[in-house]
Amino acid sequence: MSTFWSLWIIILTSTNLVLLFWILMANRKKAVKGEETKEAQTTGHVYDGIEEYDNALKMGFRLFANNCAICHGADGGGNPGFPNLTDKDWLYGGTPEKILETITHGRKAAMPAWVGVIGEESVVDVAEYVLQISGGEHDAAKAEKGAKVFAANCVACHGADGKGNQAVGAPNLTDKTWLYGGKPATIRQTIRDGRNGVMPAQQELLKEDRIHLLAAYVYSLSLEGSN
Ligand code: HEC
Ligand code: HEC
Repeated sequence: MSTFWSLWIIILTSTNLVLLFWILMANRKKAVKGEETKEAQTTGHVYDGIEEYDNALKMGFRLFANNCAICHGADGGGNPGFPNLTDKDWLYGGTPEKILETITHGRKAAMPAWVGVIGEESVVDVAEYVLQISGGEHDAAKAEKGAKVFAANCVACHGADGKGNQAVGAPNLTDKTWLYGGKPATIRQTIRDGRNGVMPAQQELLKEDRIHLLAAYVYSLSLEGSN
């Protein structure tokens, strides 16, 4: 055989191999996560070959779509009042144990309505203070008055530094992640009228093994999230 033809055969064979490998990977990704290629890629890299893990995630994805997506969004990215489950910002804690506890028993948040306690002027002042500690535009004079209101009324749950408390689901107020929204009017409304987010308990609705699959799935979402 001439050098040309043997070279040709080598090229054909290796192109074929590459193609085969590509088809394999493409199908693998599909099997893992439907269209969700971002998650699938990570799975492919880190857990290559662990068939059961893939299946568990696939089932987790379906269970999530059927039971959770209506509130948390199809990708778990959340909606106003319904937390993003793909980030590292947790109201109640992001360990597998805490996630399992949240899903099993549900959660009820108790952010009191403050207007009757501190009055509208202090609502406005303390909202400016919340804007200040979260790095937003604020009225400095009002924020200064608001700091005192905060120290007297809010630190019990949100902490002296405003960083929140997972034991009561009180969010960190010093970051740019908002459950209800970070616009001045929304913050004032939250403080004025209170908020009572409810995560429904799943223990009466879903079997235990399914709840475990969902907890693993949610945990995996947050691992793959960017912040
Ligand atoms: C008894 C505990 C408690 C106290 C006291 C409390 N909060 Fe809260 N706060 C919470 C909880 C719990 C949430 C989350 C509500 C939810 O998830 O529905 C919250 C939510 C908020 C939010 C919404 C944050 C977001 O991400 O959208 C703001 C703003 C806020 N609180 C400000 C305050 C201010 C200002 C005070 C004092 C005047 C205060 N809170 C006092 C428990 C408390
Ligand atoms: C009816 C709407 C609703 C449904 C359905 C729902 N959730 Fe939630 N979930 C919430 C709300 C609201 C919160 C936040 C509670 C609060 O404000 O404190 C929450 C909180 C959570 C948290 C805690 C997040 C954190 O930051 O600590 C997890 C985890 C969670 N949900 C998972 C799930 C899973 C898994 C399902 C499906 C089985 C599900 N949720 C179904 C409304 C819902």
